[in-house]
Amino acid sequence: MSLTKNMLGLTTALLCAFSLNVSAEQIEIKFSHVVAENTPKGQMALKFKALVEERLAGQVVVKVFPNSQLFGDNKVLEAMQLGDVQLAAPSLSKFKKYTKKLQVFDLPFIFNDMAAVERFQQGEQGQKLLNSIKRKGLQGLGYLHNGMKQLSSSSEMATPADLKGKKFRIMSSDVLAAQFHAVDAVPVKKPFSEVFTLLQTKAIDGQENTWSNIYSKKFFEVQEHITESNHGVLDYLVVTSRDFWYSIPKDIRKDVKTALDEAIAYGNEIASQKSKVDKQRIVESKRATIKELSDEERQQWVEAMKPVWKRFEKQIGKKVIDAAIAAN
Ligand code: LMR
Repeated sequence: MSLTKNMLGLTTALLCAFSLNVSAEQIEIKFSHVVAENTPKGQMALKFKALVEERLAGQVVVKVFPNSQLFGDNKVLEAMQLGDVQLAAPSLSKFKKYTKKLQVFDLPFIFNDMAAVERFQQGEQGQKLLNSIKRKGLQGLGYLHNGMKQLSSSSEMATPADLKGKKFRIMSSDVLAAQFHAVDAVPVKKPFSEVFTLLQTKAIDGQENTWSNIYSKKFFEVQEHITESNHGVLDYLVVTSRDFWYSIPKDIRKDVKTALDEAIAYGNEIASQKSKVDKQRIVESKRATIKELSDEERQQWVEAMKPVWKRFEKQIGKKVIDAAIAAN
């Protein structure tokens, strides 16, 4: 009897030790982001989780936290440096504290379209920028697209003069602040999670974002006017902490990276579809009027905003800016 008891105790102890060991070895990747799940980033994150858990079952587990549930956009990179989150894909406009070089993506009208953005990102300078946050203990693993930004507001915007004195929410980027100052508007830096309420309560007049963000966060329901300006790009840097990344055994790391690359390609497909589909959904909702710019009107916006480039040339580097222009 007591022998059986002892054996049971031993078995339990062994089982405990074994399961502790297993869970200690299982790598957990918390992926935190701020957008809805029905967006390019939301879908990319879920695809990454599915691929990793199918291929590395028992070795790596991925937990996705959308809608700023875990960290808002101004906190996630600090949390990553502290090891509280392992993967994120903040907009390229949110890296000001970590590098000035990524500001190239915020320069108004620097890219003609998403094909130019893709060429720049995959080119020599774009690839170098993946390492621009290394000194802060972070590592860029790839770029993810969302799309070109549009302007939304409670009043009509045909020419830059229409923005005079109006408050626009921006991401935490000095280039974006300069872009709105250039048209005499008032930029207000606020986290993404606050934008809807700020617009709804009319604490601000407008904002800039992509079709998928304007649709998925219902900004079009509280903004009567959208100008299809395509004045800038909203893309993401998929980022991790170097300490975490290089703590993953090499063979597993390789598989995680492959899954990530595939998930990014999938997310990019969704981005390209959503920039059309979500625009159409907004048109059909009839909640907001969409203004398309004529070539002459567009030229006025370019002339008003382009002087911003010169002011940031030193911080970004001429080589980087020239490569971006050449990608068009
Ligand atoms: C924003 O803050 O407007 C965007 O960066 C949100 C996002 O991640 O797409």
